[in-house]
Amino acid sequence: MGRIYNFSAGPATLPVEVLEKARDEFLDFQGSGMSIIEMSHRGKIFDAVHEKSFELMRKIANIPDRFDINYMGGGASTQFALIPMNLSGKGRKAGYINTGSWSKKAIEQAKIQGIDLQEIASSKDSNFNHIPDPINVPSGLDYVHATSNNTIFGTQFKSFPKPADSVLTIDMSSDFLSKPIDWDSVGIAYAGLQKNAGPSGMAVAIVDRELYKREKEDTPTMFRYSTYGENKSLYNTPPTFQIYMLGLILEWIDSKGGLQGIAKHNESKAALIYDVIDANPEFYIGHSQKDSRSLMNITFNCKSDELNAKFLEESKKQGMDGLKGHRSVGGLRASIYNAMSQEGCKALADFMKDFLQRNG
Ligand SMILES: Cc1ncc(COP(=O)(O)O)c(C=O)c1O
Repeated sequence: MGRIYNFSAGPATLPVEVLEKARDEFLDFQGSGMSIIEMSHRGKIFDAVHEKSFELMRKIANIPDRFDINYMGGGASTQFALIPMNLSGKGRKAGYINTGSWSKKAIEQAKIQGIDLQEIASSKDSNFNHIPDPINVPSGLDYVHATSNNTIFGTQFKSFPKPADSVLTIDMSSDFLSKPIDWDSVGIAYAGLQKNAGPSGMAVAIVDRELYKREKEDTPTMFRYSTYGENKSLYNTPPTFQIYMLGLILEWIDSKGGLQGIAKHNESKAALIYDVIDANPEFYIGHSQKDSRSLMNITFNCKSDELNAKFLEESKKQGMDGLKGHRSVGGLRASIYNAMSQEGCKALADFMKDFLQRNG
């Protein structure tokens, strides 16, 4: 079929069964004589797709009733700006946990809006190679922001701090739907779709309805979470193709044993690659400290830049792509989201062993 093992950080590989289904029903969706992206978002057919995606998401991610599931344009980066706009007016307080680039972008957007912001924990001094621990959340904050999985540095929270008197807002872009979610203390969890949940350009923002009371009065309609929650994300024309694809992916996750099943699959996949790094620490240098390792993005370097370049070139010839690390860490990065198969991870692990034999 000509498909490669795509280790790209996002947009990323999607389940082939999902792509095939989308292909098969693309021209004539359910006998309508139209594609899903050509029909009204207010018609019966799209409405069923839309509703089903909400139902499946709530079931699979075990989302409590207090939350609305909001489908929003603008990707995850727009959420960086919307959170301070919706949760905290000028002069109010927020705590941010800085685990690298994505946290930094979220911090910048809050600062632009004049939020009284404290970086309550940071791993900057070690080039973000770990999740700070312990994290002490001061009292008197309006909200706390964390990036659950840092796509660039390959670190991931195993659990979140529990603020005593504020809510957590969590950027789950790169580990959303990869394992069960603990909703305790969460006010807003959001994610861009393009890693585990579909095509790029849309974010899911799961928002506690109580928080709508905190929206700043001058927040424009399209930037308010309540607009989406109160209109089932149909205030305007939603990203219909993304919602349709998300629905197919949710069905696929359901068929794999839900988030428990997917989490097990992700743990065993990541172990295949981390085991090679751990067995050969002089040749493969992992970026993340062990207790902060991401199951989604594995960041490592060969012992020289020349070897990194050779690794990329040779792995590409073996049908593996997307392995170049982000410039802020360098080296190599294997993104192994839900849809990356066990076989794909085994192929990479075998290649790593073979490459070491030949160059070690
Ligand atoms: C953790 C994280 N947050 C935010 C973003 C930004 O997402 P978007 O490009 O959808 O705005 C990304 C993109 O890769 C990401 O990995």
